[in-house]
Amino acid sequence: MSQDMGGKVTLELVKPQRYRVIYRIMLGNQPIGEIELDHIAWRSGEAELKIFIHQEEFHNHGYGTKAVVALLNQAFFKMNLSRVYLRVHANNPIAIRCYEKAGFKKEGRLSRVTEWNTREEIFLMGISKTRFSKDTQKNFRAV
Ligand SMILES: CC(C)(COP(=O)(O)OP(=O)(O)OC[C@H]1O[C@@H](n2cnc3c(N)ncnc32)[C@H](O)[C@@H]1OP(=O)(O)O)[C@@H](O)C(=O)NCCC(=O)NCCS
Repeated sequence: MSQDMGGKVTLELVKPQRYRVIYRIMLGNQPIGEIELDHIAWRSGEAELKIFIHQEEFHNHGYGTKAVVALLNQAFFKMNLSRVYLRVHANNPIAIRCYEKAGFKKEGRLSRVTEWNTREEIFLMGISKTRFSKDTQKNFRAV
């Protein structure tokens, strides 16, 4: 169970580009990580989400989920995208749970052999604007 420390999470725009926007994740005045929308396809209305909270001490307090929900609000209601997707290693349960809390669903599974000859399993997850509006937003009114 993640421990909510009650901190306010906001996103600060770092680098707006045509096909990629990067935000700093702020906990109060402190930067704790980055979150971005990459491969923005304006015509189909899709983009790929990536997130990284730098220090482990900030993991598992709900900050990642708050940042993801804030970014989805931005993607769907400011940028008017219709779908956001992401790729996550199957052996990253904390990230998978964080994305599921924000409303993402698993849509596919990729498997590849790495250059070290080990097998790597990756989940493709996605969320539509419709599902986000219906399901996630009502659970995160405070974000
Ligand atoms: C992935 C990441 C963004 C998640 O953010 P976070 O703030 O740590 O996640 P949250 O606290 O919002 O949610 C974590 C959830 O995972 C759960 N969790 C933690 N360890 C778990 C485990 N071993 N198995 C299953 N669930 C687990 C927590 O209990 C929590 O769920 P809950 O609120 O229902 O209890 C952050 O941990 C991170 O940046 N990690 C390093 C980089 C990374 O992995 N990026 C993602 C690449 S796809």
